[in-house]
Amino acid sequence: MTKKIAVLPGDGIGVEIVAEAVKLLECLRRDFGLDIEMEQALVGGAAIDATGTPLPDKTLALAKQADAVLLGAVGGPQWEALDIAARPEKGLLGLRKELNLFANLRPAVLYPQLASASTLKPEVVAGLDIMIVRELTGDIYFGQPRGVRTLPNSEREGFNTMVYSESEIERIGRVAFDIARKRNKKLCSVDKANVLECTELWREVMTRVSKDYPDVTLTHMYVDNAAMQLVRAPKQFDVMVTGNMFGDILSDEASMLTGSIGMLPSASLDANGKGMYEPIHGSAPDIAGKNVANPLATLLSVAMMLRYTLQQAELAARVERAVSRVLDQGYRTADIHTEGMRKAGAKEMGDAVIAALH
Ligand code: IPM
Ligand code: MG
Repeated sequence: MTKKIAVLPGDGIGVEIVAEAVKLLECLRRDFGLDIEMEQALVGGAAIDATGTPLPDKTLALAKQADAVLLGAVGGPQWEALDIAARPEKGLLGLRKELNLFANLRPAVLYPQLASASTLKPEVVAGLDIMIVRELTGDIYFGQPRGVRTLPNSEREGFNTMVYSESEIERIGRVAFDIARKRNKKLCSVDKANVLECTELWREVMTRVSKDYPDVTLTHMYVDNAAMQLVRAPKQFDVMVTGNMFGDILSDEASMLTGSIGMLPSASLDANGKGMYEPIHGSAPDIAGKNVANPLATLLSVAMMLRYTLQQAELAARVERAVSRVLDQGYRTADIHTEGMRKAGAKEMGDAVIAALH
């Protein structure tokens, strides 16, 4: 049956990189028998400008009805003055929440060709392959109450609430244990259980869930230590599981181990394997529209879509091999460019990957 993909380019470089991903999907349909149809819709700042809201009903309906969602990025300086509740980011957060995409998989894999593009020493990052499992629909991102209030002394006070229920912790824990089981059977749960009750509960639940996975070794680490260990000795990690906010921060950190944040794809999954696929980087307004963005994170997100939602593991591997091949051929966007390599724009990189598919 034809699978439907909702395509939401969003803002900034989202537009250019998603265009490359659409080219890739069209090629997979034309030449490799992938049975899909695509429909585009507005999200984020682009949607605010056109309709007044970052997540128009039409976009949400399309995303709900689609089998998978491909998203670029949202946000930009022109919308920063808006109230938090009306900003482009709310479009993305609304999609995650409304579609119940609680499991965010962020693989940090170093392509050997890029060992010298990392700011860390090649021996520290060579062979790196970490899977960060970030809870995506809870935590301080969504906790109530939240806001800015005025105190009796007329000073203002900002507040947010970090909150996790046992069932929320358990379901992301099970996703992470299942993934660890298929890898090297090592799971590191990251929390701040020495200070925050919410994550003390997190640790307790993770420990309880681990009883069902005797073949997986569970360790716990405080988030500050985890941030340090990620740059000191990142290869000690196989799978990491953590909450929404810590996962946001640690996944950006982990991306730099791989050479560039422009290399990291992600999948955000619900309980049934439906997913939204997006690069982990943002809209990069400073380089938008200049054809210099790295589309690889988005093309690799298409590979994740093929694997996790469309059940096309072979095509997924084909896309990943094509990415590896263009890196072998020396193509580099500005963010991963090193001496002697072939400078490519987003379009040239996309074309090279498509050519390498065949
Ligand atoms: C990410 C981004 C988002 C987040 C923003 C754009 C809302 O940083 O996907 O990591 O904080 O989750
Ligand atoms: Mg982030």
